[in-house]
Amino acid sequence: MADSWVNSAEILGSDLHLELTRAGSRRNALMAALREAIRDGRLAPDTRLPPYRSLAADLGIARNTVADAYAELVAEGWLTARQGSGTRVAPRPASPPPRTAARRAPGRERGGRPSGATGGRRGPRPAPRPAHNLLQGQPDAASFPRTAWLASARRALTAAPHEAFGPGDPRGRPELRRALADYLVRVRGVRTDPERIVVCAGFAHAVRLLSGTRLLRPRMAVESYGLAFHRSLLRSAGIRTVPLPLDADGALTEGLAELDGVRAALLTPAHQFPTGGPLHPERRAAAVAWARENGGLVLEDDYDGEFRYDRRPVGAVQGLDPDRVLYLGSVSKSLSPALRLGWMVLPDHLVDGLLATKGEREGWTGVLDQLTLADFIESGGYDRHVRRMRQQYRRRRDQLVAALAERAPHIRVSGIAAGLHAVLELPSGTERSALRAAAWQGLALDGLGGYRHPDATTPHRDGLVVGYATPPEHLFAGALDALCRALPPEQTAT
Ligand SMILES: Cc1ncc(COP(=O)(O)O)c(C=O)c1O
Repeated sequence: MADSWVNSAEILGSDLHLELTRAGSRRNALMAALREAIRDGRLAPDTRLPPYRSLAADLGIARNTVADAYAELVAEGWLTARQGSGTRVAPRPASPPPRTAARRAPGRERGGRPSGATGGRRGPRPAPRPAHNLLQGQPDAASFPRTAWLASARRALTAAPHEAFGPGDPRGRPELRRALADYLVRVRGVRTDPERIVVCAGFAHAVRLLSGTRLLRPRMAVESYGLAFHRSLLRSAGIRTVPLPLDADGALTEGLAELDGVRAALLTPAHQFPTGGPLHPERRAAAVAWARENGGLVLEDDYDGEFRYDRRPVGAVQGLDPDRVLYLGSVSKSLSPALRLGWMVLPDHLVDGLLATKGEREGWTGVLDQLTLADFIESGGYDRHVRRMRQQYRRRRDQLVAALAERAPHIRVSGIAAGLHAVLELPSGTERSALRAAAWQGLALDGLGGYRHPDATTPHRDGLVVGYATPPEHLFAGALDALCRALPPEQTAT
């Protein structure tokens, strides 16, 4: 049977031409035909679909094939199924859904052209902006503390000595290093003085600089789940990354000694990225003991250590041994990833070598931002902003947990005690269809699979990484609603 008219006019209100022309199984062909009909508007939102039996009879296919196709499309978010009201076309998302999985957040379009501008030539069309953004990786950009930052900038500029406008010291401004030293000792339990701090343009810049030394060679241990971007930075510097297995207590650092040629380990001890747990105290101690016994180094990525909700603060591992642990931080989660401001707290014996790699002058971070951040920290503005954002993100996290409890109680949420994102654990084999359903809802978010090291031996877990800090306040509820629609229904759980 190639194609057919569906004559269930009493349900659809009109006939529907469904062409089962796609090669492969009848189920896939029916799914493709229904998706197409929904996309091009022939099947309007809330239209009730024919019962399995009548559609199967119209198309000359098995009833189970129709049932399976409907169930899969419900899982993907194209259809909804409610007891007593049959299977219906899902409500349309707020803006046209992208045709491929929404991987790009607003502002992340390729090529840097404004949306819709093609420069007068025919060329690839920019991907449509997703209506909702729950991609992890950024704080709520609308909450940037403009007024307080401006006040700090004004004070900093007024007070800056003339020499601040000469060539920059590669260590960074002394005002900022002093402010950071006080802050990190007080808030994160870091052991340092300003002489051991080197300012940089964020964590990624720190990784680039360190990759230019011999410290991370030839191989470096990383967690089995982490940012692919960071692994690729290391790879492009000729450093091979070796995955450390992970469980709920973080990376299995006891295994470091067994890794050949590994002299450094990159860890996210306060909040494993992205799975979410803190590194167990015994594993923190094991990492430091390994570094001491083997002349190794631990790189501590403290990317969101200030955002903790339910549990007591987890101090920096660096406090256990400042000669073996490099502490790396930035304002990317606390203020904005666009500022490109970060810091390295280095063991004494590494400061000169790192500065030699950086060069004679500061070439990355501008003096005004450095001085402004110094004032912002010292005037208490940074603490106030972090406290305010912590309350806002905690509220959002609670809303996420409550929405899941109500609308998808079969989905477990983890990694919620800290940070700006959570992980939704999905039934095995449903991650890709949940991402497709999210794209249909106009929702940009990531699956856990994209964070897995290609050589990881830890079994893959299907999941979604939900960046609940990302949308502005007024768009959060809509994003949450789109997320709940995209989740696989309970009956598909295995
Ligand atoms: C795991 C992890 N580390 C570090 C950072 C900070 O990176 P950067 O300072 O380069 O913006 C991020 C993102 O904010 C991150 O997700």
